[in-house]
Amino acid sequence: MTNNLFTSYSIITYGCQMNINDSERIAGFFDEKGLKEAPAEKSDIVVINSCSIRQSAVDRIEGKIRKLRKIKNKPLIIVTGCLLEKDRKKLSPLADHVLPITLVSSWPLPFLKKENIPFFNLSLKRSGPTAYVSIMTGCNNFCSYCVVPYTKGREFSRPATEVIKEVKEAIKKGYREVWLLGQNVNSYNGGVDFSKLLKEINKIHGNFWLRFTTSHPKDFSDNIIFTIKDCKKVTNYLHLPVQSGDNAILEKMNRPYTAQDYRETVKRVRREIPDIALSTDIIVGFPGETEKKFRNTATLFSEIQFDMAYIARYSSRSQTAASEMEETVSEEEKRRREKILVEILKESSLEKNKPYKGKKLRVLVTKESKKKGFLFGKTEGYKTVLFEGSKELIGKFIKAEITDYSSWGLKGKISRK
Ligand code: SAH
Ligand code: SF4
Ligand code: F3S
Repeated sequence: MTNNLFTSYSIITYGCQMNINDSERIAGFFDEKGLKEAPAEKSDIVVINSCSIRQSAVDRIEGKIRKLRKIKNKPLIIVTGCLLEKDRKKLSPLADHVLPITLVSSWPLPFLKKENIPFFNLSLKRSGPTAYVSIMTGCNNFCSYCVVPYTKGREFSRPATEVIKEVKEAIKKGYREVWLLGQNVNSYNGGVDFSKLLKEINKIHGNFWLRFTTSHPKDFSDNIIFTIKDCKKVTNYLHLPVQSGDNAILEKMNRPYTAQDYRETVKRVRREIPDIALSTDIIVGFPGETEKKFRNTATLFSEIQFDMAYIARYSSRSQTAASEMEETVSEEEKRRREKILVEILKESSLEKNKPYKGKKLRVLVTKESKKKGFLFGKTEGYKTVLFEGSKELIGKFIKAEITDYSSWGLKGKISRK
């Protein structure tokens, strides 16, 4: 080892699954350099993998750094990840370094010798039972509220050969779930298109589930629908962010589809794959969202009956087009609208979870529950199941008989067959 100053590290991750996956590469790289992963309080280096998507995320990161500064053995604090210029400037006086994530192999640290290894060539140290595989980075869509094109840059697809190699490695190691990641996977173009990529991975020998996010309604073709239907390993689960149910707002968001287009896409999906679980993202309180426009969203939201949804209050971000638009909805009103949608979601997810009672389902065991002796798992439709079992089962498939349900998930017991 080339240093004795740094022997341990810790990584704290904010944001989406792509950030989790990026952190896994930093961990893999640091391990190769002889460092050991440790809790933050005992580490020589703490890496904070950040997210600028909403102001609340940046505020949380700031609070975290202030706390880390109080740790007795004073770790070196490195801030990296998806940061807007403005947020980088704000956090930089608090951190020891603010460094670009993709250049981790040439970060100015004594134990590194500036190797310039392309980020995707770094080996992964996976942090859970899901094998995340980033198939593309960046985004070209420029939804008017979104920071991603500024923090991650333009869209880039990794070659399919590289993606398939990474998937095969994960399967060989025994991973039962492969999750393909990209901001807009339907426009994947790494030598083959997205449908073809799914079909190729589906052919790989082994017992595993194949998931992917995120899909954009504008690119969600029949071809993809039939691919999900035909490929046995591709799960009957689809995350399709709608963002708003009002056409004027969708236009201002630079989302080139109408509420009617979205309804029809969902209809086509459900016609072909009736038991598909459907989730979405919605933003409430976008500039210009009047009560009437919000009602259009609420109507679509209750009509479609989602299994799950991530509802966000609009947060103005610098550099984005929407940050130039006048904010017309108060924070209090955003909270009210959020609450209305959460109530609708509670009803629709309860309805969606009900039919599972009494059924025997395949479940991938994902983690321990806080309740002693209990575990969490996920169904094919990405529903959480709570059941009794020992932690050796984590990462494995089990059969569970569903005994109860609520809006937020299912309860069950392990079934012998
Ligand atoms: N590429 C994905 C997701 C990007 S970010 C997509 O196209 O949908 C994840 C979610 O965060 C978005 O779907 C959106 O609902 C939410 N989001 C993004 N920017 C936001 C902002 N400025 N304010 C509130 N929510 C935002
Ligand atoms: Fe993920 Fe976007 Fe946040 Fe980056 S900015 S971590 S891509 S949600
Ligand atoms: Fe963001 Fe829209 Fe791309 S939400 S990541 S600009 S598809």
